[in-house]
Amino acid sequence: MAKQIRYGMVGGDLHAFIGEVHRKAINFDTRVEFAAGCFSRDAAKNDETAQEYCIDKSRVYGDFREMAAKEAARADGIDFVVITTPNSTHYEVAKEFLSNGINVVCEKPLCFEISQAEELVSLAKEKGLLFGITYTYTGYTMTKVMKEMIAEGKIGKIASVNAEYVQDWLINELSPVEGAQENLSVWRKDPKYSGISNCVGDIGTHIENYVHYVTGLKIKRLLATTNTFGHALDLNSNIIVEYDNGVNGAYWCSQIAMGHLNGLVVRVFGELGSLEWQQEHPDYLRFTPKGGAPQILSRGDGYIKEKAGATSRIPVGHPEGLYIAFANIYRNFVSALIDKKNGKSVESADFPTVSEGLSGVRFIHAVVDSAKNNSAWVEL
Ligand SMILES: NC(=O)c1ccc[n+]([C@@H]2O[C@H](COP(=O)([O-])OP(=O)(O)OC[C@H]3O[C@@H](n4cnc5c(N)ncnc54)[C@H](O)[C@@H]3O)[C@@H](O)[C@H]2O)c1
Repeated sequence: MAKQIRYGMVGGDLHAFIGEVHRKAINFDTRVEFAAGCFSRDAAKNDETAQEYCIDKSRVYGDFREMAAKEAARADGIDFVVITTPNSTHYEVAKEFLSNGINVVCEKPLCFEISQAEELVSLAKEKGLLFGITYTYTGYTMTKVMKEMIAEGKIGKIASVNAEYVQDWLINELSPVEGAQENLSVWRKDPKYSGISNCVGDIGTHIENYVHYVTGLKIKRLLATTNTFGHALDLNSNIIVEYDNGVNGAYWCSQIAMGHLNGLVVRVFGELGSLEWQQEHPDYLRFTPKGGAPQILSRGDGYIKEKAGATSRIPVGHPEGLYIAFANIYRNFVSALIDKKNGKSVESADFPTVSEGLSGVRFIHAVVDSAKNNSAWVEL
């Protein structure tokens, strides 16, 4: 039986990092056919990737503009495109596909400029197209449990937020190591590909989005320091935020935090309790009720509510992981696409949208502006 939905990808050749994760995540659910691609500007890598996935030769494109136009003209053209190129190209690729009437899923950060992000929000609305952003960590079951518990008042009124996303993969930037091999992701250090920020754009935006997702709080203003250690872009940043309800939060993102691999940790403190979630142990959530002992809640247990529990794919005790978090975002996006095709409302669909992408771009600019201005408060 033919699949209900078709997708294509820009970027993500076999040597790239995140494109393959997207493909695997989409495949967890079986409703989508992988039909077209422009995986690299390098023709050999483009062909090699297409062959690996048995993509018909007529649907392998050397240029994303040609792909958008030709796919839009086909009766069996793709329903959505997945953009997994470096940051510098997100805006033009997304705009091209939206202009051709094709729904989009784009990697974060959405684009370089706030005006570009606003344009993409307007264009998606004007064309009536879905636009998802892969803020991956919102797809985990225990993230959804955290969101539900906060909404139900389990920790009461929020008093403070503390979150960090720390890695050490750029530690050699502090003191170069002769002959050390650089990995594929080094474009992140180059403003031409990364934009005005490296670390804040790459991982700080995940904190910004995650905290908003679980708490509903919006940042009103922030002040920040960034550290470049003599390089073009930031490798470490400390950020104090003030939300629209006057509560403060402290964020730290770093790529030079020795001994930390992919340490996204989010702690929310309320008048009646606190919650803490760690990306490296994603199946667990630490809940401390006021006056009670800390409790470790786990995915798939009976006390996990139906809605959040439905995002869990295998019984508790069998670790899930990043692929499932990604797959949950895609499952909701694809369900929304099918609903939209069938004329149903997609208002309550649970996936990060282009509006969250815009918030991320505003966040990056505010952090960089504040750091440049002696850590002055910057309104968002
Ligand atoms: N959501 C997440 O958790 C997450 C994780 C990693 C990366 N990312 C984001 O994903 C994006 C890609 O990151 P990566 O680490 O996979 O990069 P990468 O360098 O590993 O891969 C980039 C890919 O884009 C291709 N490419 C570049 N320009 C192109 C063009 N004009 N047309 C077609 N293909 C082109 C390259 O050939 C390569 O295949 C970045 O925006 C990054 O911030 C997000």
